Amino acid sequence: MKKIINIGVIGCANIADRYIIPSILELKELFNLVGVASRNTDKAKYFAEKFDVLPYTGYEALLEEKDLDAVYIPLPNSLHAEWIEKAFNENLHVLVEKSLACNLQDVERLNQIALDKDLALVENFQFRFHNQLAFIQQLVAKGKIGKLRCLRSSFGFPPFPDKENIRYKKDLGGGALLDAGAYPVKISQIFMGYDLTVAASSLYIDKKLDVDIFGGGYLKQQSGDLFAEIAFGFDNFYQCNLELWGSKGKISTKRIFTAPLGYKPEVVIDTESGRKTISLEADNHFQNMLKHFHSLIITKSWLEEECMQNMHQARLLKELKEKANGK
Ligand SMILES: NC(=O)c1ccc[n+]([C@@H]2O[C@H](COP(=O)([O-])OP(=O)(O)OC[C@H]3O[C@@H](n4cnc5c(N)ncnc54)[C@H](OP(=O)(O)O)[C@@H]3O)[C@@H](O)[C@H]2O)c1
Repeated sequence: MKKIINIGVIGCANIADRYIIPSILELKELFNLVGVASRNTDKAKYFAEKFDVLPYTGYEALLEEKDLDAVYIPLPNSLHAEWIEKAFNENLHVLVEKSLACNLQDVERLNQIALDKDLALVENFQFRFHNQLAFIQQLVAKGKIGKLRCLRSSFGFPPFPDKENIRYKKDLGGGALLDAGAYPVKISQIFMGYDLTVAASSLYIDKKLDVDIFGGGYLKQQSGDLFAEIAFGFDNFYQCNLELWGSKGKISTKRIFTAPLGYKPEVVIDTESGRKTISLEADNHFQNMLKHFHSLIITKSWLEEECMQNMHQARLLKELKEKANGK
């Protein structure tokens, strides 16, 4: 296959504008950004001029483009499944924002189509590709904190000033679990595997909005002894933390999910011999994520693993919802 992937963006979203489109444009040796599609002609034109690409009015117009290989979908969560499927109908690879879909059935159905068609379906958790995570994984593997005993992770932030934000809309797949909660759920699996199940959970649902605003959960291994305590919300004091507690020490870091460009992560290791703080080089996890997506498309070597990740992530989100509702 050719090396440069023609990619289009479905929806002129904030995340696309601030991070993903600039990163795609920086990776010219890997991607050619064909265009951006919006429901609104003026918005499409504004984005197109800003990034010097073609504007498309209506998402279908972009999907009909003959030379397209892949799309990036940063739509509200409730629209992901529909547009992933439409992209698959055109045999396009898909990078979709988290959360991939609003329920497990949709994720399983889309995974199956991806596997049948040999297409990439990647949920965009870029923190997976930050040097900070790799460094911490190495520390744990080398036994720096002895045997891992448990993981604690929180991701939450203060309310959005814009009350029309998609995260407050039930029909758009809003709510803190699918938005912020998805991150600690993801990182729990990175350190403890797919064997996790939800033993307990809590979701505070705003009565007027009918979306969950904050919550938490207790995830435990089914065939092992490890467990994770997670918390999330968007009516909270800002937290973006990871803590790994072992038999001989503890590793902690801030900004594990949202390291801004230029930010030098600090990893703190506490052991009996005291505290050591290690500063890491800044990294660009947006670019790293895109490189991973590109490599999947070219090599097709990791497609099943991505689908497996997609499925277990959706399964745990489902369990968190069900357990919170007292089932
Ligand atoms: N990976 C990350 O770090 C990260 C960070 C933030 C957000 N996200 C995810 O990215 C996605 C978008 O988040 P965002 O904050 O960028 O959202 P946003 O700025 O509100 O953008 C969502 C886009 O969806 C399109 N859209 C289609 N139907 C819509 C509707 N009924 N109401 C509102 N917008 C509609 C709009 O594009 P047009 O008007 O152009 O059609 C809009 O610009 C979400 O899934 C979110 O979870 C990921």
